[in-house]
Amino acid sequence: MTREPASTEASTEEALGVSHVFKRYRDGDTMVEAVSDVSLSVPRASLSVLVGPSGAGKTTLLGILGGLVLPTRGDARIDGRSVVHLRDHHRTALRRQKVGFAFQDLALIHGMSLLENVLLPLTPQGGARKQDVARAEGLLERFGLLDKRDRRVERLSGGEKQRGAIARTLILEPPILLLDEPTAHLDGENAAAIVDALAELRDEGTTLVAATHDARLSEDPRIDRALHMADGKLC
Ligand SMILES: Nc1ncnc2c1ncn2[C@@H]1O[C@H](COP(=O)(O)OP(=O)(O)OP(=O)(O)O)[C@@H](O)[C@H]1O
Ligand SMILES: [Mg+2]
Repeated sequence: MTREPASTEASTEEALGVSHVFKRYRDGDTMVEAVSDVSLSVPRASLSVLVGPSGAGKTTLLGILGGLVLPTRGDARIDGRSVVHLRDHHRTALRRQKVGFAFQDLALIHGMSLLENVLLPLTPQGGARKQDVARAEGLLERFGLLDKRDRRVERLSGGEKQRGAIARTLILEPPILLLDEPTAHLDGENAAAIVDALAELRDEGTTLVAATHDARLSEDPRIDRALHMADGKLC
């Protein structure tokens, strides 16, 4: 008997879900199957961690879960709504409303201060109001960065940038937060600060999925589950 890795049924408890998703990329003459027949249901207010070797498909699966990457086959749901058949602008709107991303390639903008970076996601909705500045400062305080608010981001340490990137994502108060290697290259103290923040957000009701190589995160007792990936599959 084969065991399903997780329920594939959408339920009111589900924040994110995928059913039998595949993602194939063309690499010259060959095809790479980055994600291969993955089904997964992520409950609300949970902290899940995707672990697996380099090339396992973690970043690709995070992209599919968040509606950034369309699967080649299969279904993906955000907050119970299937996203694969939505028109692009509807999918983008749903994603913007529900999902925050802290991905390394969505890095902070150099030449701007940390506070300006945290306020940046508000630009499409007319920019920062006075109360938004106060909220941004509250987020910086939460991540131990308030004293760095006016510093240009290229002058921050790696750990400070990583925490700043998460704070920037949180300014839009997303109910779902996806993070790619949030503790990469961080020392013990900085990594622990990130894990503390993720567990605290979960306790406040946020749904989180993080991809990581880092046992400090994947083996932390506060995570709800570690999902192991290899060769594009959950195992
Ligand atoms: N845009 C792309 N075009 C072609 N191949 C891709 C693309 N994105 C990912 N791949 C391939 O898909 C596979 C899975 O990549 P993915 O980035 O999802 O893995 P990962 O588990 O996040 O790896 P890492 O731990 O190194 O970040 C790899 O073989 C990768 O080379
Ligand atoms: Mg990756």
